Amino acid sequence: MMKVLVTGANGYIGAQICRYLSQQGYRVSGLCYPRIPDDECWRRGFDDLFVCDVRDADALKRIAERPFDAIVHLVSLDHHQSSGDPALVASINVTPTWTLLDMFAPRGLKKFLYFSTIHVYGVTLHGAVTETHLPRCVTPYALTHYMSETVCRYFGDRSDVTCLVARLSNSYGPPVFPDNNCWWLVVNDLCRSMAVDGTITLKSDGSPLRDFIHGYDVCRAVQILLEKGENNQVYHVSSGITYSIAELAEKIRVTAPQSKVTAAQTPPALASAAAPAGYTIDNSKLRALGFMPEYTLERGIAELMEYLAN
Ligand SMILES: NC(=O)c1ccc[n+]([C@@H]2O[C@H](COP(=O)([O-])OP(=O)(O)OC[C@H]3O[C@@H](n4cnc5c(N)ncnc54)[C@H](O)[C@@H]3O)[C@@H](O)[C@H]2O)c1
Repeated sequence: MMKVLVTGANGYIGAQICRYLSQQGYRVSGLCYPRIPDDECWRRGFDDLFVCDVRDADALKRIAERPFDAIVHLVSLDHHQSSGDPALVASINVTPTWTLLDMFAPRGLKKFLYFSTIHVYGVTLHGAVTETHLPRCVTPYALTHYMSETVCRYFGDRSDVTCLVARLSNSYGPPVFPDNNCWWLVVNDLCRSMAVDGTITLKSDGSPLRDFIHGYDVCRAVQILLEKGENNQVYHVSSGITYSIAELAEKIRVTAPQSKVTAAQTPPALASAAAPAGYTIDNSKLRALGFMPEYTLERGIAELMEYLAN
């Protein structure tokens, strides 16, 4: 079975992907930082777990002495952290992508799956957005992800490694570890507000549109990309369905009938049943490889509310 190294293994998405791939029979090794989580059950799924700062090229070199068939690279600072000192941000979000490919390409690595973001497209999206849409980065977070995409394309052209880019929309769902960096993600945030305060207060008028994909479906997409993804291709990892934040809030509100939703600004969309047809993050390229999301937003919300209640 394929030997996979996952970077950012203790992170929100990384921890779910490692658990899922291990359950599917993959031989998984994980790169954690700043420490390996204590959870014995989660740790049992690994061949190897390493503690490693991705800026430490010597430590990476020692890890590269072991052969891996594939790497799933998930290390990045989040939006807020990526607005810091450019040298620091690039040293975590960009340079390690280059270092990893440079080190592992001559050692028989077959696949490199890089996790990017739909934020590379910028803020105003219309219609069906496919992977051919021109990136227009408007934040350092998006910019550094796009820079890493470019590094992948370079190695896809000039090495034997099959380099793939997954542009992820907005994931949600219960984390493997409660302290994962995931409670600012909008579905998780609003569900937690509802569970803790019995109310949701929107920061906007509820009209912004988003595509939400459950973590389990992200894991299934990763497996499909590892098995079938093609060199130098970009794939949207999305549900393909767009909701307004007001619609999302309403779906959460109905799980607790006594609760209410308020908005910081006049909420034109709060009562409306359907979002305006603004845009969709087209995932037909991933679907053509056999992907179909399993989670509806309603199912994901119900699961998350149950997790929070417990
Ligand atoms: N969560 C989402 O909805 C979402 C959406 C789009 C894109 N993404 C991208 O997917 C990837 C994973 O996101 P996530 O939600 O799991 O984020 P996360 O913050 O939970 O994970 C990031 C990981 O990077 C690790 N890391 C940070 N600095 C490091 C360093 N110096 N050395 C080694 N490891 C370091 C962290 O320990 C963590 O494991 C990121 O690239 C993120 O930008 C996530």
